[in-house]
Amino acid sequence: MSKMKVALAGVGNCASAFLQGLQYYGNYREEALGLRHLFLGGFHPKDIQITAAFDIDNRKVGKDLSEAIFAQPNNVPKIADISPTGAIVQKSPVLDGVGEYTKNVIQISNKPDANVAKILKESDAEILVDLLPSGAVKASQWYAEQALNAGCAFVNVTPAFVASDAAWAGRFEKAELPLVGDDLIDQVGATTLHKTLLKLLSMNGVRITETYQLDVGGGTESLDTLERTRDVKRTVKTKSVEAALPYKAEVVAGSMDYVDFLQNRRDSYFWIRGLYFCNTPMQIDLKLSTVDAPNAGSVLFDVIRAAKIALNKKLKGAIQPICAYAFKHPPQMVPLETAETTFADFVKNNT
Ligand SMILES: NC(=O)c1ccc[n+]([C@@H]2O[C@H](COP(=O)([O-])OP(=O)(O)OC[C@H]3O[C@@H](n4cnc5c(N)ncnc54)[C@H](O)[C@@H]3O)[C@@H](O)[C@H]2O)c1
Repeated sequence: MSKMKVALAGVGNCASAFLQGLQYYGNYREEALGLRHLFLGGFHPKDIQITAAFDIDNRKVGKDLSEAIFAQPNNVPKIADISPTGAIVQKSPVLDGVGEYTKNVIQISNKPDANVAKILKESDAEILVDLLPSGAVKASQWYAEQALNAGCAFVNVTPAFVASDAAWAGRFEKAELPLVGDDLIDQVGATTLHKTLLKLLSMNGVRITETYQLDVGGGTESLDTLERTRDVKRTVKTKSVEAALPYKAEVVAGSMDYVDFLQNRRDSYFWIRGLYFCNTPMQIDLKLSTVDAPNAGSVLFDVIRAAKIALNKKLKGAIQPICAYAFKHPPQMVPLETAETTFADFVKNNT
């Protein structure tokens, strides 16, 4: 199998967990604990090669990616030593990459901005993965533009609307390049767990009356979300959870706060109240504890390999089977089961 040449925009916690995962799973040949697919379409995670990376932080720019991923303010736990990658983190334009709450956390490098499209071309990158902060909407769209200029497929892990925006999808279609997004689904997802619980209870005849989900995290991303994307995340998640019930109930989901000493950990609290046989009341109080960035790893491995399959097949525009399988805000929302089967068919029919 040929290597997939991938570039990363943003060398934060997600990039760190992803790169450590590539090293960790590199020599697995049989079933790999913690991965959905060790092989996808014939590709192994080892076939993913990072050829370029971009950031704005002084502690990351100019360093080999293997070193930059462990620089502050990244705080995802170290699980693997990384061999040098040869990809030196290049300085990119800041745009709206730093918010009011993260301006004291990110140290902006004073190096000149690199020519990102040129570096993408020179490094033979085929796929550009957007791992910018969730509030950096302009910067995400700027990177989508660089992918178009350099002839790369674009994977939007962030909640900025790119793949779900018809105009952007049209531009990738015209450029004959694949586009996938928006906002990656976690492997152990709080929203998916919440929806599944509600669905199970309502299927059994329980009338849910009220429910909420509250998230608390300590990564830079939680800080950024608190300031810039809290309301939009709350609206998107509340709508998504409400859709799991066949009737109207009081639902609040995706409300969040920042607690610095949690580091990259995230706690999600679920509270559900309802009525069952003869109006008997029931209540559930649950807490899910995860580390945030590794929660993106397995899904990201699948998405990158699926994007390569799309490239090999010369598919263009927003690739709905990948978007619906791996993203919270795809161009078209479909039920979980449909997303699963459509993705499996996509992989089978194109490899
Ligand atoms: N489980 C998950 O971690 C998960 C799941 C779904 C979506 N996401 C999304 O992935 C993205 C990354 O998450 P993270 O936890 O790694 O965030 P992070 O804040 O740790 O990392 C973001 C990185 O982007 C850099 N950056 C800021 N502006 C930039 C610019 N203009 N150009 C280049 N780099 C820039 C920052 O310096 C930082 O290194 C977020 O949008 C998040 O919502 C993450």
